[in-house]
Amino acid sequence: MQRKDFVATVLSWQKQHGRHDLPWQQPASPYRVLVSEIMLQQTQVVTVIPYFKRWLASFPTLQSLAQASEDEVMAHWQGLGYYSRARNLHKAAKYLGEEYNYEFPNDLKALETIPGVGPYTAGAIRSFAFNEYGPIVDGNVKRFFCRLFGIEGQPNSSQVTKQLWQKAAELTPTENNRSFAQGLLDIGATLCTPKQPKCGECPFSNYCVAFATDRQAELPTPKVKKKVPERDAHFIWRYENNAIQLEKRIESGIWAALWCFPEVSEPPPHAILAGEFKHIFSHFKMHGHIWQLQPAVAEVSQHEPKVTGQQRWVSQHQLSEFGLPAPIKKILPKLWPDTGYN
Ligand code: ADE
Repeated sequence: MQRKDFVATVLSWQKQHGRHDLPWQQPASPYRVLVSEIMLQQTQVVTVIPYFKRWLASFPTLQSLAQASEDEVMAHWQGLGYYSRARNLHKAAKYLGEEYNYEFPNDLKALETIPGVGPYTAGAIRSFAFNEYGPIVDGNVKRFFCRLFGIEGQPNSSQVTKQLWQKAAELTPTENNRSFAQGLLDIGATLCTPKQPKCGECPFSNYCVAFATDRQAELPTPKVKKKVPERDAHFIWRYENNAIQLEKRIESGIWAALWCFPEVSEPPPHAILAGEFKHIFSHFKMHGHIWQLQPAVAEVSQHEPKVTGQQRWVSQHQLSEFGLPAPIKKILPKLWPDTGYN
């Protein structure tokens, strides 16, 4: 399929059926595009929307983000997961302040020097914010292209990834890039879905290798699922004078720089189990146990090296100022009864 035809088909579909009312589309400033694209990397549109709005209300400009405290930034990310994204956004604002006087460079290679920005986000900023040539390949585009062109092999392998970027580079136009990029993502997200793609509504079905050969379920080649290891983690629940004890975690590892119940390496002696949760990370599954100490042994002794020692007693109305990991936030109302906290 020629670029001209490919582009025309994407644009006309986008105009009629694509998404036009996403909050980061108006206005599509480089800063708003950066924030939304980083949030959308591992999170669905419906989840991102309220986070995006709160973020922009608190940090309306790159400068205000650069000047915010780390705790303030992390508090706005709490519950979204993959917290390195928030730390990178904070770094990105400082970097752009120092290197570019809070402006965005309009160049793919320069954009890729921003912390947290890779080829996809650089292409998205060029397309959405500058409305200029910027190829984009994300999970949606990968799925769509693997089916359309019948590309076999693990979509995240370096060989297939290279092939997909090559296709994107060839097919991306040099005008109408904002609508084109949105159309490409929307086709992947709404028509060319992982399960039961809507081939009957797809303007590319006549050109699609997967459709012609009835291999929508085999393309892209399914990922080889590896079994994720399970790990126990133990936390201490301390509640005194209507406040709970939280501890700031160190800058690396899971939940870096977030506030959490103090973590210990094993259950404290004679402690009572106050709550449990399961949480899936990309590389392991955590089975969390939350322990209430008996008054006589209410001293936390065996700290893991994961904790900073920075501890606070936090009352309910102060909680929103602290970034808490999602499963901790979720279990709080169960541990802290008779309150409206949620
Ligand atoms: N996923 C990543 N970027 C997106 C965007 N701009 N609109 C919708 N979904 C997206």
